[in-house]
Amino acid sequence: EKGTYPHYMLKEIDEQPLVMRKIIQNYQDGEGALEIDSDIVAAMKEADRIYIIAAGTSYHAGLVGKQFIEKLAKIPVEVHISSEFGYNMPLLSEKPLFVFISQSGETADSRQVLVQVKEMGYKALTITNVAGSTLSREADYTLLLHAGPEIAVASTKAYTAQLAVLAILAEVTARGIGHEVDFDLVQELGIVATAMEALCDDKEEFESIAREYLTVTRNAFFIGRGIDFYVGLEGALKLKEISYIQAEGFAGGELKHGTIALIEEGTPVIALATQGFVNLSIRGNVKEVVARGANPCIISMSGLETDEDRFVIPEVHSLLTPLISVIPMQLISYYAALHRDCDVDKPRNLAKSVTVE
Ligand code: M6R
Repeated sequence: EKGTYPHYMLKEIDEQPLVMRKIIQNYQDGEGALEIDSDIVAAMKEADRIYIIAAGTSYHAGLVGKQFIEKLAKIPVEVHISSEFGYNMPLLSEKPLFVFISQSGETADSRQVLVQVKEMGYKALTITNVAGSTLSREADYTLLLHAGPEIAVASTKAYTAQLAVLAILAEVTARGIGHEVDFDLVQELGIVATAMEALCDDKEEFESIAREYLTVTRNAFFIGRGIDFYVGLEGALKLKEISYIQAEGFAGGELKHGTIALIEEGTPVIALATQGFVNLSIRGNVKEVVARGANPCIISMSGLETDEDRFVIPEVHSLLTPLISVIPMQLISYYAALHRDCDVDKPRNLAKSVTVE
């Protein structure tokens, strides 16, 4: 039930800090260390390459998950859109492990790939919000998101829950392999939950950003580098899905290779700057679009901010920034849709789970 909330989407955005804390609890052992079923860790350790298969927002979570697994567990990861993988299977490694990410566990494109890889004799893990869903039943292993039912068509809390579970999977696997993890993930996810709360308390700010940048525009761009780019892809998907503004997310450095041609006087460009090592380059990209008339909205992280930034998110571990930088994306999209009188929870042409190919 959505209670006093006007929309499920807003309620689900607000639930994210609580979901974080639930996930930490559910994946802790008696001593408070993070724990994952030993068969899953063994399957991860045995794999010479991990293939993440997903669609939409879950695919965007997979892109960030690749960074977690490669950086912490040091296993190579490929991320594939399920509808592409089914028809254009890449050359597989000798010992692949397939990881399906799906909020609903019912997405037909992903199910089709699972059937194919099971027929080929490979092992599969499903990360899903729905225990007993088809993708969970048909895979060898399941990790649950513990996010509670997600009703709004636009996925919000499932995305951050997917990221948290992927981070836990990466950390536990890394320790299982014997790689040192030089931070305490339980503590860092706690900091994330607190930062999420602060962002959810700042709704007026996101409403005003949406009003200022997105009330009349035809299009909008999201730019970032590294994991900020992946969050930009998710921001663009959120915005187009519920506000029908044509939106595109792309890597800051790609601008000059084509997309910059679309920048006109007043075009909103939302730039994410949460990564110290590319802070200068992304700000350089912002200058390039501003020189062509763009209306920039820089969202940076505390410690990296400058006077030109529109919003500064609280500082969290540099690997975990997508868990919080996505919240401004979700709330800005939500208010943009409201300002444009769109049906936030049930956008046109879309279903909550896509059970047809
Ligand atoms: O249930 P799934 O995670 O498999 O769904 C995948 C996509 O259909 C889903 O993420 C879709 O992109 C959302 N509507 C995005 O908000």
